[in-house]
Amino acid sequence: MRRYFLLFIVGTMFCAYLFPQESIWNETEEAKYERLQWWTDARYGMFIHWGIYSQPARHEWVKKNERISDADYLKYFELFNPDLYNPTEWAKKAKAAGMKYAVITTKHHDGFCMFESDYTDYNIMNTPYGKDAIKQWVDAFKAEGLKVGFYYSLLDWHHPHYTIDRVHPQSALTQEEYNNLNKGRNMDIYRQYLKDQVKEILTKYGTIDILWLDYSFPGEFGKGRDDWDAVELVKMVRELQPNIILNDRADLKDYWGGWDFTTPEQFKVQSWPEIDGKKIAWETCQTFSGSWGYYRDELTWKNNRQLLGLLIESVSKGGNLLLNVGPTARGTLDPRADKALAEMGDWMRYHSRSIYGCTQAPEEFDVPEHSILTYNPNTKRLYIHLLDYPITNFRLAGYKGKVKYAQFLHDASEIRITAPFGHHMQGSIATENDLNLLLPMIKPDVEIPVIELILE
Ligand code: GLC
Repeated sequence: MRRYFLLFIVGTMFCAYLFPQESIWNETEEAKYERLQWWTDARYGMFIHWGIYSQPARHEWVKKNERISDADYLKYFELFNPDLYNPTEWAKKAKAAGMKYAVITTKHHDGFCMFESDYTDYNIMNTPYGKDAIKQWVDAFKAEGLKVGFYYSLLDWHHPHYTIDRVHPQSALTQEEYNNLNKGRNMDIYRQYLKDQVKEILTKYGTIDILWLDYSFPGEFGKGRDDWDAVELVKMVRELQPNIILNDRADLKDYWGGWDFTTPEQFKVQSWPEIDGKKIAWETCQTFSGSWGYYRDELTWKNNRQLLGLLIESVSKGGNLLLNVGPTARGTLDPRADKALAEMGDWMRYHSRSIYGCTQAPEEFDVPEHSILTYNPNTKRLYIHLLDYPITNFRLAGYKGKVKYAQFLHDASEIRITAPFGHHMQGSIATENDLNLLLPMIKPDVEIPVIELILE
């Protein structure tokens, strides 16, 4: 008996050594890298938060923030009629802004479904609009050559069997209160609903390129992987759409295959995120202003320079940017979003070469003052984004022998390279390993000028 027990222990340890992580599927690291390749090359996508919360127009969390009851929230369901909805227009705008993919909310935390569902009446077919917004969206975005992704909320503030927790509109304080509130609620039923609906959206609309499950909040009165039955859910996702790219919010960070990329939200990472010393795929999601859903009176809109800064910085640390629009309840984009997208598009038209297919620059390249570097490992070109346009002599420390040619990206005009020495450089800290670029005195008429270096 003892011998078998020992054998069991040794066997378990051996397995743990061979398979250090729990796993959901057996994809190799190389295969994963390839599966994500189109997405890492794309670098820039559009997030779309659209639902019946666009009518109160004061944040997609309005039901929770104002503790609105189901009965009071019903009016938005009964009124929803986005008569000007034209997803082809949205897709064209995303494309013109330089975006390569888009992710739309199929269901947000309020539980309302923008798609036709067999599992609830609380879906768009039963609003005055009466058409499947998601179907039209997928068709329009695919037709414009964009990759398509679905956001699906794990939380559900409408489903009668979803138990009340600390972020629910009816959240309470004590265990006793929760016990009372949750009498008669059965999460098993909700878990099945979740699975059925995820299956529905992953089978009805053809290939779906990205899935954004949002989100987990384990701990007291919270919810995590077991509440969602996340392991089985993600296994199903992998079976239904083996090439899909999945975010990391189902609380399966320690499972191989449980996620593909990490999702810093509304903040700039200091450096390329790592786990156990390994750089991981990442995408920051950001709003134009302080809300994801349409928020009429929110005024803290980022300007063009800030938005471009977010994009360039993400790429310079090996990441993507998913930039959000919150369409109105008529189905149109906010004019402020239109303007921001158009301005970014103006810049991207001339500078996308420093974004697509680019990543963090090799460490050997010093980052000049007030600038951000990106690098294309295939073409071996280095891009210097000039955040604060310098005066004529621009020192590239330690670049000697590494650069064949320098030009502005927006007009392909040559930038002359000189040695760092000469009487005009007296007093500079330049060394003989440096190069000097002779920039025109007048800043080119683009928001952030980019120098393209063709390397030796
Ligand atoms: C958060 C919020 C949500 C938003 C999302 C986008 O999880 O709950 O409203 O959809 O972030 O990343």
